[in-house]
This record gives sequence, C-alpha cells and structure tokens, in this order.
Amino acid sequence: MKLTAEESAMTDGRDGPAVAAAMDLLLRYGRALGAERLVETDNVVASISATTPFMRGYAQRGGGMDAVFSEFSLDSDAVLPIPPARAFTMHTQLGFDPAQAARMGVDEETVRFYRQGEAWTAGLGVQASNTCTPYLLGNLPVRGEHCAWMESSAVIYCNSVLGARTNTEGRESVGAAMLTRRIPYWGYHLDANRRGSHHVQVQAAAETTADWGLLGYWIGDRVQERVPVVEGFGRRPDLARLKHFGAAASSSGGLEMYHLVGITPEAPSAEAAFGGQAARERLVYGERERREAYERLNATASERRVDYVMLGCPHYSIEQVWHAAQLLQGRKVHADCALWIFTPRAIKALADQNGYTATIEAAGGVLMSDSCSAMSRAAPKGTRVVALDSAKQAHYLPAILGLQAWFGSTADCIDAACSGRWSGGLR
Ligand code: F3S
Repeated sequence: MKLTAEESAMTDGRDGPAVAAAMDLLLRYGRALGAERLVETDNVVASISATTPFMRGYAQRGGGMDAVFSEFSLDSDAVLPIPPARAFTMHTQLGFDPAQAARMGVDEETVRFYRQGEAWTAGLGVQASNTCTPYLLGNLPVRGEHCAWMESSAVIYCNSVLGARTNTEGRESVGAAMLTRRIPYWGYHLDANRRGSHHVQVQAAAETTADWGLLGYWIGDRVQERVPVVEGFGRRPDLARLKHFGAAASSSGGLEMYHLVGITPEAPSAEAAFGGQAARERLVYGERERREAYERLNATASERRVDYVMLGCPHYSIEQVWHAAQLLQGRKVHADCALWIFTPRAIKALADQNGYTATIEAAGGVLMSDSCSAMSRAAPKGTRVVALDSAKQAHYLPAILGLQAWFGSTADCIDAACSGRWSGGLR
C-alpha cells in the first residue's frame, strides 16, 4: 500500500507503540482487502469498552482497559499505553443500561467495572453516546465525507441517507482509525461500489414505519450485499421510516447502501443511481411480497398472550419517544406484561425534561438507554412472547433469547403492552 510521509512516520513508531500497532493493523487489513491506500477520516463510531463478560475478565486480570484495547482493538499481546483519540469518535451501544442494571439482571460489581470503563473511555476523548444511532445525536457527516463506523443500521444510514462513506467496520479497524485518523480506502469509499445493482419497483403499501420495515426486510433478503435502487413508493419517508428500512435490510441481507429515487442524495434519478451500469435484476414488491415479509417476521409466534413489548430498535428518536408517550397517555401496561423502550442517553435526558419519561413510567413502562434486548441478551424474567415494532429486533431476538416474536406497528405493540395480548395484523 502507498503511504504518505505522515502515515510512514506513524507506522515507524514516531507517535508511540499503540499508534504503530494501529497502523500495522490497518495495513494488514487494507492489504487483505486489496486497498491501494488509506483515506483520512475524522468521524469514527466505535466500540472500545469491555462489553462482554469475557472482555471484563480480561481487564480484571491486571492490565485494565489498556489491555482490553491492546488485545481486542489492536491485536497486540503486549499491553500498550493507549493515547487519546486523534479522530472524533462516538461510542456505540453497550452491554446494558447502568441505570437499569437490576432490571436487566446485571450485578453491582459489573456496574462498578462499567463506570470505571466509562471514565477510561471519556479520558481518551471518546463521546459516551452509547447508541446505535449516532446520527440522532448530531453526528451528521456531510455528503462524500469518509467515515469509519461500526453498527450495520448506522452504516446503511450513513451511506444511503447522508451520502457519507463508510464500510461496516469492526472493533479492530475502528480502534485503529480512532488512533490514526485513517481507514483503508476500499468498498463504499469508492464511487464504483456505490452504484445501483438491482432495481426494485414498489407496488404495495409503503406508508407506516412498519411498512418500511417490511419493505427493507424483503429487499435485504433478495438483494443481499448489493445496492438496490428503489422507486414507486408513494409517501416520502421520514427519518424513522428510513431508520427502520435500513436496519431491516441490513439484517435480512448484508445491505450497506441503497438508493431511493428522488429521496437519497446520490439518486436524483434512477439513471444517476445506477451510474451508467445496467440493473442485474428487476424486482417487484407487491402485496404478495409484503405479506411474505410479514409472515417471515411473525413465523416464530403462535401464542397471543404477550409478556414483553420492546420498542426502540434502532434506538428511538425524540419524535418516536413522544409518539409512544402519546399512545400511552392515560393507559396502563398490563400487570402480566412489561414495556421497555430504548433511546440514546442524551435523548432520554430530553424526554425526562419534556415529561415523556414520566408519562411512560406512569403507564408502567420504562425508558432505557445504552443497549437493547438483543445486545444485552436481556428481557424481563419469564418472558416467552415478545411484541416488537422493529423488523431487525424481530429477526434477531427469537434466535438470541429463544422467544416467540410478534412484529407489527408501534400502536399494535402499545396495545399489546396494555392488553397483554397480541391483536395486530397486516393492514
Ligand atoms: Fe440498536 Fe439494538 Fe437494534 S443496538 S439497531 S437497538 S439491535
């Protein structure tokens, strides 16, 4: 790989052993991918905490968080002193919500360890955003900006909706990017890989957020790791619809980018989105396909009695929290059911201030942050049946926790929380 003078100096150890190890990792990674060079980035979304019991054990064996970062982010057996982040870095979700530790089955010692880890992270200059939706907290890279982001639902939003450029990075590459401001120049950083490959004509309803989840889920399954160019939807999707669409598509397939003609920045027209190349395949999403996606997402559920309703995957925006609070106004969550709603910590502070948290709590629900059931592998004790308004969570949770999962609209889910029964359906 061709290196600049600055990159050569970092590789040769000018800025210390951790930065040299980061460069070594990026060069090995870049060579394996066939990248010819690195590209500068000042926007990293990373996980650097000890988010699993195994990593916590590793830290507690003596080396602390520097040992965790050295081993799991820099691939170094030696414990290296970790310098502050050089690139602007936001932290992705964690293993639990420390404010709700007992509810999530997390003991006090783990919370204490977590607090120390959070102080270490802050000491490096990393933002304790703790969310899968950094764009909800003002991390809005401009069109064409090179980023190094983890978290598939954030990556697809970054590439498609913002027109910024990132691949789905891993813990190692983002750790190295954070210390060097560099990432291999390949994949979605390059124009050629951002062009459309499949044409999708929408003929069925794409109105509600749940509809957009179904559409994304179906497209991801069909297109897998390519780039769909979608047209024919009636209503202009808002942020929540795009968030659910992308998260669903990156769950059922490996989608990292899509174009919505007339909506997303690189698709002023279908021709522009395809960039001169012909569609490999033309797909039609009609009522039959919509039902197929719905049935697939509800395939694990048979019991109508619901123990648990989880909302906020990807983490809810303030608008969605407000909407959920409105739906809960004057109602009560059923005694045999629990309602957990996940949002970024900073948005929870706003919800606290605006009274939405109080409304949710008065109804018997809980507004939580930093994680989710899939990430935490946590649900209220005894849960067998869950209701979800997220296709992504409905895709993962049955396998992760062995639950039956109903997928439907937010209103269906709130009704299920208040009645203890699922009465949703495809409308
Ligand atoms: Fe976020 Fe958890 Fe969903 S981390 S995208 S809420 S699976």
